[in-house]
Amino acid sequence: MKERIAVIGGGGHAKVVLATAIAMGIVIDGIYDDDPDKWGSEILGIPIAGSLIDMEKRSYIKALIAVGDNVTRKKLACRFVHYEWITLIHPSAFVHPSVIVGKGSVVFANAAIQPDTHIGEHCIINTGATVDHDCVIGDFTHIAPGVNLAGGVLAGEGVFLGIGSSVILGKNIGKWTTVGAGGVVIRDIPSYSVAVGVPARILKRRNEKEQQI
Ligand SMILES: CC(C)(COP(=O)(O)OP(=O)(O)OC[C@H]1O[C@@H](n2cnc3c(N)ncnc32)[C@H](O)[C@@H]1OP(=O)(O)O)[C@@H](O)C(=O)NCCC(=O)NCCS
Repeated sequence: MKERIAVIGGGGHAKVVLATAIAMGIVIDGIYDDDPDKWGSEILGIPIAGSLIDMEKRSYIKALIAVGDNVTRKKLACRFVHYEWITLIHPSAFVHPSVIVGKGSVVFANAAIQPDTHIGEHCIINTGATVDHDCVIGDFTHIAPGVNLAGGVLAGEGVFLGIGSSVILGKNIGKWTTVGAGGVVIRDIPSYSVAVGVPARILKRRNEKEQQI
């Protein structure tokens, strides 16, 4: 008998996660979300079957967190440590065989990841994003649609690179930093920052405590 797989989170990001799973021929048993307004509805024909407590009662072994927010994804991964997290790579994505993609991470349609890059756990490489050679992408990072990373970029844990942003060769982006939509990173950006614009400049600093889980 096939092992049943649960998906945590029933929002818009989950729709793309489920589309990716379906494209890979992976069968998802149910979606779980603590918003009662979602219970009984479906995403791509898969039922939102109840709360996270309901999910725990159904003794799943394999699961995937389909939540776009990095802090929430980390909290959920820490809460459900006993699950075997599945990894999704859309059939249209190019992932060089030398690339490591960590457990619980998703690579969406038309993304490309080039040789010797390391993608951490519970990361999102969103639609059409490109991550070039020798990049190191930390756990719980979200690389939004259409982002382009040159070679040798280091992105720390929990980094969020907004839609259409880009980073030139070899730059470092510190942990829990956000780069706004369309930003172009040409210098290192420190941890816990929000940077925007072309070239990207720091807009504000984040409270480190809010990011600690
Ligand atoms: C960077 C970002 C996180 C900032 O959000 P925020 O903290 O709510 O900031 P605000 O909207 O209050 O904007 C603050 C200032 O920054 C500017 N700003 C915000 N985002 C910007 C961006 N991407 N590029 C340039 N300037 C930006 C605003 O115009 C504003 O300037 P002002 O004070 O002169 O009016 C957000 O604007 C952003 O770009 N998010 C990316 C979302 C995304 O890519 N989602 C994809 C999901 S798959």
